[in-house]
Amino acid sequence: MIAGALKRALARPSGNWYVVGASDDLRDDRPLARTVQGREVVVWRGADGRPVGGPGVCPHLGAPLRDSPVRCGALVCHWHGLALHGTPYAGWAPLPVHDDGVLLWVRLDEVGGEAPLDTPVVPRRPERSRALTAVYVGTGVCEVEDIVANRLDPWHGAWFHPYAFLDLRVAGSPEGLEVGPPGRSGGESPCASGGGSPCASGVGPPGGSEGDGSGLSAHGTNSPADGPGNSANGTNSPADGPGNSANGTNAPADGPGSSTDGTNSPADGPGGSEGCPGGSAYGTDDAFTVDVSFKVAGRLVVPVRAVFTAPEPRTVVMRIVEGEGEGSVVETHATPLGPDELGRPRTAVIEAVIAASDRPGFVFARRAAPLLRPLARRAAGRLWRDDLAYAERRWQLRSTGRFPG
Ligand code: FES
Ligand SMILES: [Fe+2]
Repeated sequence: MIAGALKRALARPSGNWYVVGASDDLRDDRPLARTVQGREVVVWRGADGRPVGGPGVCPHLGAPLRDSPVRCGALVCHWHGLALHGTPYAGWAPLPVHDDGVLLWVRLDEVGGEAPLDTPVVPRRPERSRALTAVYVGTGVCEVEDIVANRLDPWHGAWFHPYAFLDLRVAGSPEGLEVGPPGRSGGESPCASGGGSPCASGVGPPGGSEGDGSGLSAHGTNSPADGPGNSANGTNSPADGPGNSANGTNAPADGPGSSTDGTNSPADGPGGSEGCPGGSAYGTDDAFTVDVSFKVAGRLVVPVRAVFTAPEPRTVVMRIVEGEGEGSVVETHATPLGPDELGRPRTAVIEAVIAASDRPGFVFARRAAPLLRPLARRAAGRLWRDDLAYAERRWQLRSTGRFPG
């Protein structure tokens, strides 16, 4: 199932756009540099404050422009002082740059080889003015698909990150109900918990958190017999209320803009597109819906329903569709960096958390953003320590012909 979702994700158009960093990291006095599939790229703020970019190699004698300062909107090579203004000069040609307010993208047609798009496929997000954002950047020895595959495997969450998640249950998948590895209910001892315990059954619908005794889960105990709006099988019956689909797909009868997966179908209302070119809705039918509780502190947990989609080949979006922080998204972008000194592929994970909440206290949280961002980055970093190990392991096995399945 993961392989199928991955294959479809990798086949979607990206328009040759690559995420290179966080918008907030772009300073006035120096460029942001990234190597994308072996090509050095620099982005800096031009005289009008808008980002400009191009190859990171000076057209004079090849100095690394990543180390050059920006003065009055010009990137001034630190070897001999050549000033680049973001316009073509002596063989140096600018690259299209897009600042979506959270992330910076660069279009590299030579690298992507696809038909170029004017703008990248930017997922729909909470309004920036009412959101708290944080961007984490990490690097792994693996390829883009290994990062994407990790994010398209919701089952590993509570098993591999027990410090962060519990009561995880996959409520909907692209191919219907899950039939896969067991879920984990989050009890300290797997033998003490319910349907998700290998000791209890090992067979049957995974993710079963019923009977875990914690009393902490608000999800995970729905049966197909649940009433409208509580569909547990990832699809809504005709009796379900509009806009309550749990599989992240809206029926034609759904109200405008009510898609829960973050992608709107053509029938959805205006302004809700995932940012797909031409208004199409990649990933609408291709969503994993997960009921999970985030561990906050001690036994304090926050149950949510989240939907995972891959709107383009290097992006996976997790959107909270029910529960605390509804509408918040976590975007994981994978950018291929090129080979390391041993010839192994390296890939950057650039993950943006765009959190929103209607709670009055969230206003104060937003004001405390400078303090909270490092905490958010640290939390993402802890998860990605594990997830990069997962992705790197996957690449090791793939590259030696030992990958199972
Ligand atoms: S190498 Fe850049 S100005 Fe000479
Ligand atoms: Fe993970």
